[in-house]
Order: sequence, then structure tokens, then C-alpha cells
Amino acid sequence: MKKNKEWVVDVIEEVAYFGKGKRGITRLAFTEPDLKGQEYIMNLMVEAGLTVRKDQMGNLIGRLEGQDKTLPAVLTGSHLDTVPEGGKFDGVVGVVGGLAAIHYLQDMGPLRHAVELIVFVAEESSRFGFATMGSKVMTGSGDITAWSKVKDQNGITFAEALSEQNLDIKQIRLAKRNSEDIKAFVELHIEQGSVLEKKGNVIGVVQTIAAPTRLKITVEGMAAHSGSTPMEERHDALVSASMIVLAINEIALDHSSQGTVATVGDLKVHPGSINVIPGMVEMLVDLRGIKQESIIECLQEIKDAISTITEEQDTIVAMEMMSAEKPVDMSPEISKLIEQSCVDVGTTYQLIHSRAGHDAVNMSKITPTGMIFIPSKNGISHNPDEYTEYDDIMVGIDVLAETLYKLAK
Ligand code: GLV
Ligand code: MN
Ligand code: MN
Repeated sequence: MKKNKEWVVDVIEEVAYFGKGKRGITRLAFTEPDLKGQEYIMNLMVEAGLTVRKDQMGNLIGRLEGQDKTLPAVLTGSHLDTVPEGGKFDGVVGVVGGLAAIHYLQDMGPLRHAVELIVFVAEESSRFGFATMGSKVMTGSGDITAWSKVKDQNGITFAEALSEQNLDIKQIRLAKRNSEDIKAFVELHIEQGSVLEKKGNVIGVVQTIAAPTRLKITVEGMAAHSGSTPMEERHDALVSASMIVLAINEIALDHSSQGTVATVGDLKVHPGSINVIPGMVEMLVDLRGIKQESIIECLQEIKDAISTITEEQDTIVAMEMMSAEKPVDMSPEISKLIEQSCVDVGTTYQLIHSRAGHDAVNMSKITPTGMIFIPSKNGISHNPDEYTEYDDIMVGIDVLAETLYKLAK
């Protein structure tokens, strides 16, 4: 039966309980709060009468059968995992909103196509350094050889995290879906930026999604006594690393008119002692944009800046490309359907680009894909203060349900 705002508020608040800490919500991929959140949603899927399964990667899939079993399914969904100290809405809105939309569809009449709600695992790169792992596996991409080498902050390998749930890294490729079995994918998500809020529009119809290029930079200097080593004799890896951080920031600022951004989000200093000059620093860089040319230029400028800095500082730098994904366009046909649904629902809308990454990037490789954005208060996300008005969430659900209906009827 059609779910009201109270139901949506209750379910989002319930999900927020899993992983709630002193600051925000920490529901890292494959950790207990993440699995508990999935279990909670799984029960709601069962209550809704969906056929529920988990694939070989742990992606949770609830399916509403259609009248014609020979037709491909229409998919929606998002993720439940969060960054450390994240908010309540990133990903969750697309899962809970997707489930609410399926309830609407059940009222709207018989559908010829099946509709599936997917809870993708490991969308956030916070635990293993790789983004959208669940949808990558589902769409037959993902560098599983590289994944088999990664460890989380506690030294747990990705393979171990899987096997804790009786999943086998050697089997995950079997989670790949065939494009012939899927008609379309539509994801509802918070904007995580302030474009909609500033323009006063409720819905954003996503045109292009930025994708991350990620680098691991290792700076090697020489560890030495912090008291007895004269300033002019040092090879301080952290000083070089700091100059690299500033250079990356400057370079991205120069490219910001192109929508390109760059962040050094993690820095590990070795040996990390107050009385030792840092001998080595590892840093993680996230470079993203809508325009591939600008990303390539930034990358070259970062390399040039690093050469200059390390020469001056007499330190050594190694740069490893962890991933290099390209910006992805959404399907014009699905975008048009979403626009039409906005008109049918009677809401304000605009075209928009996504600067954050999403599972929709991967899904678009195997099926026509679209995304529906709703406003984020002050554009804040990946932060405990992340907030979206529930009235806007309800409009997002209406638009999602309308779009899914058009595709599945
Ligand atoms: C996902 O939230 C991302 O990092 O863009
Ligand atoms: Mn996120
Ligand atoms: Mn997200």
C-alpha cells in the first residue's frame, strides 16, 4: 500500500540507528552496522512481497515480478554504506525511496515488467579505497586482482571481509548481470551540492556524472633525529608532502571553472613520532570532474609540480594510479522520461550534473540509466549535518515512482 511521509521518516530514522556514533553515522561497507541495515531493509522487502536474494557480492536484490516474465526488469536502488562520520541521507534516500516507490507501483496497477530494488554494497570507497564495488561487479567491471590485495585500516583484506559473510572473492564475478535482462536503471539520490537549493528547484535531472581519478602518492625522505639534525640537512617527507597538497589545491583551483576538483583526503606520516623527522608520507588524492580534458591537464600539472617540489626538497616520490574513471553521460531517453514525470507530478525541476560518484555510473555501461536528484541543505554531504527536507524526499519518490511506472507498465 502507498507509503506516506511518516513511514519514510520512520524508515530513514531506523536506518540511521545502524552505525550511529558520537559524530554522525559510520556504516562502513561489510561492517556489522552495514549488514544490520541491509537486514532491516531485507525484512521490509519481504513484507512488501518482493522476492529477495543476495548475489555473490552481497548486493541485496528485491524483485517485484511483472506479468510478462520474458521482459527485462526495470531497476532502481542505491547504497546503505556510509563514509566515516557520514550523514543519514546519502544512498539511504535511494534505497528507502526506491522501496516506497515500489509500494506506489503496487497500487498503480499491474506491470508487465518486473521491478527490482537493489542495495549495492561498498559504494563508498572509505573502507577499501575502491568506489562502487557492488555495481562494478554487477556490471562486469572492477579490478578484482587489485581488490584482492587491499586491506582496510585494521588490516582486514577485502577477501576476508567477504568471507566473514560466507562470500568468496573467487565467486564474485558470477554476480554480473546480463544487459538483456535489464530494461533501465533509475537512481534517486541527494544532490550533495547546492545547485538545486540556490535555484529553488526540487528535482535535478542528472545529465553527466563526474568520476574519480585516484592517486596514491608516496613521498620518501629520511627519518632522522628531530633535535640533532640541522634544518639544512633534512629530507623531511612531510614538508614535501605538504607542498604537494598545496600545489594540488592550487592546480584544482585553476581548473574549478571547468568543474574539476581535487582533494588530498588522507595522509599517513611514518614513523609518526614527535621526535622523528618524517621519513615517509603516503597520501591519497581524489581528482574529479565533468570534463575529461580538464582532468587530464590537472593530472599532468600535478606530475610537473611534484617533480619540481621533490627536486627542490631532495625527496623521492612514487605515484600510483589507483583508478581512472571517465565522466559518464546519463541516457537522454531516461532523462526525458524523468522530465516528463516531473511535469506529471507537478514539481519544479532542472537539468544538473553530478559531482559525486554513484552506482549509476557503472549501471549505465549495461543499461539505459538516469538519476533523480533532490536538494541537500547548504549542499552539505559526507558530514553528520547532511540534511534533505522530507517533503523534497516525498517529491523525489513521486518522480521516481512515475518514471519506474512509465518504464515497467
Ligand atoms: C561517493 O559518495 C563519492 O565518493 O562520490
Ligand atoms: Mn557518498
Ligand atoms: Mn551516495
